Amino acid sequence: MNSGKNTVATVDAPAKRSSRTPADPCTIVIFGASGDLSRRKLIPALYSLAAQNCLARRFAIIGFARTAMTDDAFQKSAIDSIKKFAEPGTNNDEVQCKEFAQALAFVSGEYHHPEAFQKLKQRLEELDRAHKLNGNRLFYLATPPDIYPLIIEQLHKAGLAKNTNGKSWVRIIIEKPFGRDLESAQKLNKAVLEVFDEPQVYRIDHYLGKDTVQNLLVLRFGNGIFEPLWNRNYVDHVQITAAETLGVEQRAAFYETAGATRDMIQSHMLQLTSLVSMEPPAAFDATAVRNEKIKVLQSIRPFTEASIETDVVRGQYGPGSMPGNSSLLAGYRQEPGVKKDSNIETFVAAKIQIDNWRWAGVPFYLRTGKRLPSRVTEIAIQFRKAPHLVFRGQDLSSNTLVLNVQPDEGISISFHAKLPGQEMKLKTVTMEFSYQKEFGGGERSAYATLINDCMRGDATLFDRADGVEAAWALVNPILEYFESHKPKFPNYAAGTWGPREADELLERDGRHWRKP
Ligand code: BG6
Repeated sequence: MNSGKNTVATVDAPAKRSSRTPADPCTIVIFGASGDLSRRKLIPALYSLAAQNCLARRFAIIGFARTAMTDDAFQKSAIDSIKKFAEPGTNNDEVQCKEFAQALAFVSGEYHHPEAFQKLKQRLEELDRAHKLNGNRLFYLATPPDIYPLIIEQLHKAGLAKNTNGKSWVRIIIEKPFGRDLESAQKLNKAVLEVFDEPQVYRIDHYLGKDTVQNLLVLRFGNGIFEPLWNRNYVDHVQITAAETLGVEQRAAFYETAGATRDMIQSHMLQLTSLVSMEPPAAFDATAVRNEKIKVLQSIRPFTEASIETDVVRGQYGPGSMPGNSSLLAGYRQEPGVKKDSNIETFVAAKIQIDNWRWAGVPFYLRTGKRLPSRVTEIAIQFRKAPHLVFRGQDLSSNTLVLNVQPDEGISISFHAKLPGQEMKLKTVTMEFSYQKEFGGGERSAYATLINDCMRGDATLFDRADGVEAAWALVNPILEYFESHKPKFPNYAAGTWGPREADELLERDGRHWRKP
């Protein structure tokens, strides 16, 4: 139920914005437009792109969902989202928000109804003609994943999946989770690639859009001093932590079918692992970067039942409280929508071995969990100790390079310094680079970066079909093991760093988790 074509206008970007050249004029269609992702992330990201002059002067956004909504109602809800969720520092004054919202239209319909897609097609053509959008289209799948195949099929049937004039582009962004195991990911890839060509397909993992994650590549390949040390001769081990203080929130329906392995390890954690460990690409482009990433994934030693028993730990939070706050938080099994005897893991720690010349013998320890004591995502490169201790009697820790992905974005390196005074006493000190201090502002929207890249046809920060499948191939044995072996849950209290076994995983190797 749309309110009619006259309420939708394209927006002329105000003259003075950032120096980036705008993308091509296009229409962005968000499937699942009434959902959480759209409200919290996509609409604010598109707004921030418009505000920074990264969208073309002419653009339109169509929300598509089952919920019946008029253009006006969609525009109003978009303004609300911008006000609530826009990045700090974005100018979201009334006039600018309204101006942006005028570019929004809404089409409601059932995903299995061909008529709904005919309606969408009609709307696309109208907006295209009215605002000269050159037939460029970006489809964003932000619905529950089980609907993806249906949308892809309907786009194909409605003749919307390919450009028809030989000049315009049609691209599709597919949200994670891309499948729920190797088999379903392969099936989804097949369904997608029957309709779209691989260069049209942008499989999104929002971690790759974070500035600090991209900065990892800059640190490694834009500087001469780190790469020579980035190997088994100098690195003792690597720790990658993605800790959240939040519990499952309102997402039990999804999380009960996923768990931390599917939700975080298969995607974000393996992305971080491959960026830390990949070989230098020939260029910073989609083919070169993704070729190197897949080589690393293929070098990770596959998990077996025996190695899962020793090298993978899962956990589920029980009731507990955050440090410094006595209020009792519910355990996972008490959260709304969660089964009282749920065996879904909210924590995973794993030791990964990369069998190649650079990393042989250097373990990568990964851990991620919900309801941990602090929100922090970091990559810590722990270097080997000095080979000979000249300064006797001093117990020197090893040097650590820490990349803080969030929330205190930055890089720090620890080393030893002499304490002032007569005696030769050493102390560990740190040198720090802080995004906030150097560049100001808070976390920037990863979604804005990635949507912008897609509109420009740059797939470097998106996953390729083979990359997604390689990541599923790695976690598949873990998922199967988890399904066939019952855990003893809950096994960590909310507000703690996960189950005791996660500490033992490192202690067995004579190491310890950092306490970020
Ligand atoms: C999502 C997961 O992909 O990433 C969530 O589905 C998780 O469970 C989120 O909370 C974490 O993202 P960020 O950017 O807040 O670290």
